[in-house]
Amino acid sequence: MPGDKSISHRAALFSVLANEESNINNFLVSGVTEAILISLSSLGVTWALTGTNLLVKGPGLSSLVPPSQSINCGNSATTMRLLAGLISAAGIPAVLDGSEGLRRRPMGRIIEPLRLMGVKISATQDNYAPLVLAARPVHQPLRAIQYHMPVASAQVKSCLLLASLAANGTVTLVETGNSRDHTELMLARMGVKVSRSPVQPGSDVYEVKIQPPHQRIQPLRITIPGDFSSAAFFIISALITPGAEIILKNIGLNPTRTGLLDVLKLMKADIEILHQEFTSGEPSGDLRIRYSQLKGITIPSSMIIRMIDEFPALAVAACFASGVTEVREAAELRNKESDRITVICKELSNLGGIIKELPDGFIIHGGNPLLGGVVQTYHDHRIAMALAVAGLATQKPVTILGAEIIDESFPGFNKALLELGAEVEQF
Ligand code: S3P
Repeated sequence: MPGDKSISHRAALFSVLANEESNINNFLVSGVTEAILISLSSLGVTWALTGTNLLVKGPGLSSLVPPSQSINCGNSATTMRLLAGLISAAGIPAVLDGSEGLRRRPMGRIIEPLRLMGVKISATQDNYAPLVLAARPVHQPLRAIQYHMPVASAQVKSCLLLASLAANGTVTLVETGNSRDHTELMLARMGVKVSRSPVQPGSDVYEVKIQPPHQRIQPLRITIPGDFSSAAFFIISALITPGAEIILKNIGLNPTRTGLLDVLKLMKADIEILHQEFTSGEPSGDLRIRYSQLKGITIPSSMIIRMIDEFPALAVAACFASGVTEVREAAELRNKESDRITVICKELSNLGGIIKELPDGFIIHGGNPLLGGVVQTYHDHRIAMALAVAGLATQKPVTILGAEIIDESFPGFNKALLELGAEVEQF
């Protein structure tokens, strides 16, 4: 699997914080990470990409230069939200913009807390890109705040943790649900004092505390594990293809990301973790997946944040499971690259699935064979890959219009499907 998208974004961006060269192996080279590399150039940061090895010459936060034009974050909300935090800490003026799709994604969730910290930021209707960040006087720190995040979101949390590097004291963020913690792990590896723990043992409310650094921030020397969210499509491929058995090597298994594994186990999937280790501080391992007769379940709401990117893949599995699969309390899916609730329901129904859309989720009646047909991606890479996986087990072929969007996160996807024996044609 290609390198993890979330960790690749963070590695490229956080390298800027050190004053030395960072060396990143197995960097994800794709549409979305291209956006972050181009944005580094516009901040005066030099980098070199050879294959999947990325070297970034860290200038340190205080040496970033104001970009001469607006920074194009492409289709990547992670780039925009994390960059907004980094630029807030640097205190330089910048305009962050992106694709039409990105201009529709909510940014109020970072604007409100950044303003509480003293960042001067404006946006269309206070919620949409372009985001305009004003300069801050060099010796004026940001305010240390205690902030209860209304939406559990790793992007918001990461934005605020980056801004906190310029705060005048410890910043405390409180989040209901354990969103991915790659930022906390990576900043800690770089020597920043950051902690994350449940407010009480067993609680689902987490408190993240970060102290602005007094010492030099260390450069990164890391190897990025394979992307679990990309692996999810191959996990589902094996589960729905009679006779299939796949081993996926060196996949990131950070527990804040692997909710899908827990859900699939409840659905009676035959998945085994063959080997587990740590890859540069992140849990990783090999997975063996065998075809399974899945059973529908109601997804426990506590799992949602830990599998937030996996609902397109899960929905395909649910179509092939016996019985009913219900997803509720997942309205946040409407704020992704597409409105994933509407799009999943519409396009899997087009293939013959029996699905009911809910305001905050969907209900799938599984076990009715999917027929096949022509479907759309709505510029959403994960919708495209999920529909391709569905096509492995439909009665007739699936034609996916706009499938090139897959390159945003997984340029080798079609090739990997071909290698596993799927019949794939690209026009
Ligand atoms: C991401 C966080 C999630 C996820 C996205 C990547 C990240 O978004 O959906 O694909 O790298 O922090 P939210 O923070 O909006 O939940």
